[in-house]
Amino acid sequence: MKRIAILGSTGSIGQSALAVVDAHPDRLQVVGLAAGENAERLAAQIARYRPRVAAMATGAAIDRLQRIGLAPDTAIAGSGRDGLVAVASHPDVDLVLCASSGTEALEAVLAAIEHGRTIALANKEILVMAGAIVTEAAERKGVAILPVDSEHNAIHQCLHGRARREIRRLVLTASGGPFRGRTASELTAVSADDALKHPTWRMGRKITIDSATLMNKGLEVIEAHWLFGVDGSQIDVVIHPQSVIHSMVELIDGSVIAQLGVTDMRLPIQYAFSYPDRWAAPQLRLDLATAAGRLEFEAPDTAAFPCLALAYRALDEARSLPVVLNAANEVAVARFLDRRLGFTAIAEVIARTMAGHNPAEVTTLSAVRAVDRWAREYSQEIARGLELKV
Ligand SMILES: NC(=O)c1ccc[n+]([C@@H]2O[C@H](COP(=O)([O-])OP(=O)(O)OC[C@H]3O[C@@H](n4cnc5c(N)ncnc54)[C@H](OP(=O)(O)O)[C@@H]3O)[C@@H](O)[C@H]2O)c1
Repeated sequence: MKRIAILGSTGSIGQSALAVVDAHPDRLQVVGLAAGENAERLAAQIARYRPRVAAMATGAAIDRLQRIGLAPDTAIAGSGRDGLVAVASHPDVDLVLCASSGTEALEAVLAAIEHGRTIALANKEILVMAGAIVTEAAERKGVAILPVDSEHNAIHQCLHGRARREIRRLVLTASGGPFRGRTASELTAVSADDALKHPTWRMGRKITIDSATLMNKGLEVIEAHWLFGVDGSQIDVVIHPQSVIHSMVELIDGSVIAQLGVTDMRLPIQYAFSYPDRWAAPQLRLDLATAAGRLEFEAPDTAAFPCLALAYRALDEARSLPVVLNAANEVAVARFLDRRLGFTAIAEVIARTMAGHNPAEVTTLSAVRAVDRWAREYSQEIARGLELKV
């Protein structure tokens, strides 16, 4: 029996993870749950899974949770970062799934690593922000970081048992999002509602916008660098609109190994939970002839979608620039979702925030948090200057 804690249990990944638990009740036990503000959904999950410990983002959310009523055997660990840390480092937890949005769970991931817990990582922002610190801690403690992001999970599967020296390059596939094929000028007037209509995946709002700008793929390039120890020059992105191939690895002899599957996050989540074993999942079958059909590939259009190039630049310059990229992107996407910023202005906010930053070494958590705070304030200021007149 693996005993798991889920950070972000009320979200898209969190709910898929609980569906995996439902499919394997004899193998998985929920010990901890943490959520942001959705007290109703967390209360229902607590009633069903009876975890030992739970946490929410704010005191107000915990008050709502307590008014709804708690299972007698579930303790409230607290709110904010402390609550996440307490859930992730609870003594009964074997594996922590980090599936909360934003970067509030960074300290919790580090605490879980210090306690020797396996990490299943869905949240790419944490590795973009503090990849060096997180991977150094994991290596020091001998802790595995198992990728849940479908592309990285695919690469993890393709690499199984292969030596690093056999890799020529990693190829991340991208659906291209809802605006694939549009020019930069055609993108100026697209709305948040248009951008939220992802062609192949059902996901949370922030990652869906990141998929529309291609920043999601940019964040994934940086994530791949930290997970697999390869440089940006060895990580390619190819647009593959059907999202059947989840990613590929090209080996030094020219062989390309790919992982294919249905577009359902239960597959990579289950693999992270079962690893190094593989469990049956009869409902996740890929029907190549009738459902997948034709597989297409094209190069990404970095003129229309400049976020991808910005991410490569941040990775190349390294130091504090990825922290700035991530923070400015979060600010810009939130304002776009609030209808206060245009779609093409997202990349402009990020580019101008990066240009206004003096890259520095960030080797401690407090240095990372300080750059993050600076970038959020600076990018808010720039975004205010580009505010949409509605
Ligand atoms: N969805 C996918 O298919 C997918 C695929 C690959 C990677 N990812 C990554 O996985 C992460 C989650 O994505 P998602 O699509 O599941 O997002 P989502 O549906 O928006 O869910 C976010 C989750 O995080 C919780 N949360 C937000 N702020 C929190 C805080 N301060 N403390 C504790 N919990 C907090 C939310 O709680 P409330 O709802 O209760 O507020 C919710 O449970 C992201 O980093 C994303 O990039 C997602």
